[in-house]
Amino acid sequence: MGSKLLEMKGVNKRFPGVYALKDVDFTLESGEVHALLGENGAGKSTLIKILGGIYSIDEGKIFIEGNEVQIDNVKDAKSYGISIIHQEIVLVPYLSIAENIYLGQEPLTKSGFVDKKRMFDNAQKFLDDFDLGLSADTLIKNLTVAQQQMIEILKAVSFNANIIVMDEPTSSLSEKEVEFLFKTIRSLKAKGVGIVYISHRMNELLQITDKITVMRDGIYVGTVITKETKIEQLITMMVGRELTNYYVRDFCSLDDIVLSVNNLSKRGVLDNASFELHKGEILGFAGLVGAGRSELMKCIFGLDSFDNGEVFVNGEKLIITNPNDAIKNKIAYVTENRKEEGLFLIKSVQYNVTIKVLHEFLKFFRVNSKYENNMTNNYIRELSIKTPNTKQLVGNLSGGNQQKVLIARWLATKPRILILDEPTRGVDVGAKAEIYAIMNQLVREGVSIIMISSELPEVINMSDRIAVMYKGKVQKMLNREQFNQETIMYYATGGN
Ligand SMILES: Nc1ncnc2c1ncn2[C@@H]1O[C@H](COP(=O)(O)OP(=O)(O)OP(=O)(O)O)[C@@H](O)[C@H]1O
Ligand SMILES: [Mg+2]
Repeated sequence: MGSKLLEMKGVNKRFPGVYALKDVDFTLESGEVHALLGENGAGKSTLIKILGGIYSIDEGKIFIEGNEVQIDNVKDAKSYGISIIHQEIVLVPYLSIAENIYLGQEPLTKSGFVDKKRMFDNAQKFLDDFDLGLSADTLIKNLTVAQQQMIEILKAVSFNANIIVMDEPTSSLSEKEVEFLFKTIRSLKAKGVGIVYISHRMNELLQITDKITVMRDGIYVGTVITKETKIEQLITMMVGRELTNYYVRDFCSLDDIVLSVNNLSKRGVLDNASFELHKGEILGFAGLVGAGRSELMKCIFGLDSFDNGEVFVNGEKLIITNPNDAIKNKIAYVTENRKEEGLFLIKSVQYNVTIKVLHEFLKFFRVNSKYENNMTNNYIRELSIKTPNTKQLVGNLSGGNQQKVLIARWLATKPRILILDEPTRGVDVGAKAEIYAIMNQLVREGVSIIMISSELPEVINMSDRIAVMYKGKVQKMLNREQFNQETIMYYATGGN
């Protein structure tokens, strides 16, 4: 490890009703991968946003290579060689991949115009190096969340930064893409770049980081050397207590079929996808990015149309033209794309939680606000949503807490079939355990759950069966005895 690249000292940051950072210290050396770890709302993204010039600092000092600096905006941060991959994707949807990668730093021709050819060629080279199978002129809006995340990563490494911050870069990536990212990180490290890595996936931290700094409630807890630490120790530092019984399930024999999907096809996306879901079952869906898992669920839920195929709920054929048809049949879908398809960021926690069930509170055309408020508070408690009150804007919550608000909204509809798309994406270990406990409780009550997840340990430990998708079809249905990472990867990559 090398010289000190970055030092943040005594950093304080307050928001109305929230003390987000209290006297936090953080140091990064060259050639080091340094993790920031902490529960949802611990202050990780806030610290990073201060470094990136997005939030102003209340108190504290920042040193770059020993010199004190003032970072007032994003441009300042860039000029100090800082590049940040933010937790929330900030690409421009109507521009191409190449234009997004080079936005604000376009290569110029001698006469001072944007050198489009060079820009597209360079971008294509990056894409090919990463083996993404994408064309540089594709518009961002036509990419999946995972692909967008890969482009964010490309963008950050494309400009020669000394300090690269990755705020949950892998939250929607599956194993194969994560491997690519790790390869990139190793080569950056070798060049002396310092990397700040934020993730709730513990096994990733153990694999790729050199040091781990733990934060709790805006306070610096401590820094450990990764090689000398264990997951249990990290969890105790994070949550201030030991956490046992991580995955909770009472497995039982499979009951009646509640949902059957027969030969669903959609050109270029789904290819005769079929599966059945039993009462009280958790059916996991595994597969690589682009295998069609979310697309399949969107068709079932009426968010997307399909060309051929049939869906039956409790033996009755379901005519789905839009999500209301699915909701009437007690189907709920928690999307993976909480920003674009889910939450209203400039509305309150309460608005977001109760929006699907508001009609229940109507009495003589007026909303019974006491009841509505109680319901919201119940979910805040049940899912430990970190918010000062029910009126806080969802956009002001930390990423993981936004995810919990979305889950609460759909739980409020009391679904019989609950489709969860990456439900623990960006959620901390403690809250993950809470979500697993709720899932277990729901299936015990006879609810059936479909869970798409790119985190194999989660799929393996929580599912009764696993459907592995490959190129738009259900390639293989696995029973518990057959569960292991290698088998899943085998079918996910086309094995037969
Ligand atoms: N713009 C804002 N206005 C008000 N409160 C904010 C704002 N940004 C962050 N906060 C609050 O500051 C605290 C720290 O949030 P931060 O986003 O840094 O957490 P985090 O550690 O990144 O969590 P996660 O793992 O969920 O991403 C939270 O309580 C959050 O609600
Ligand atoms: Mg965050």
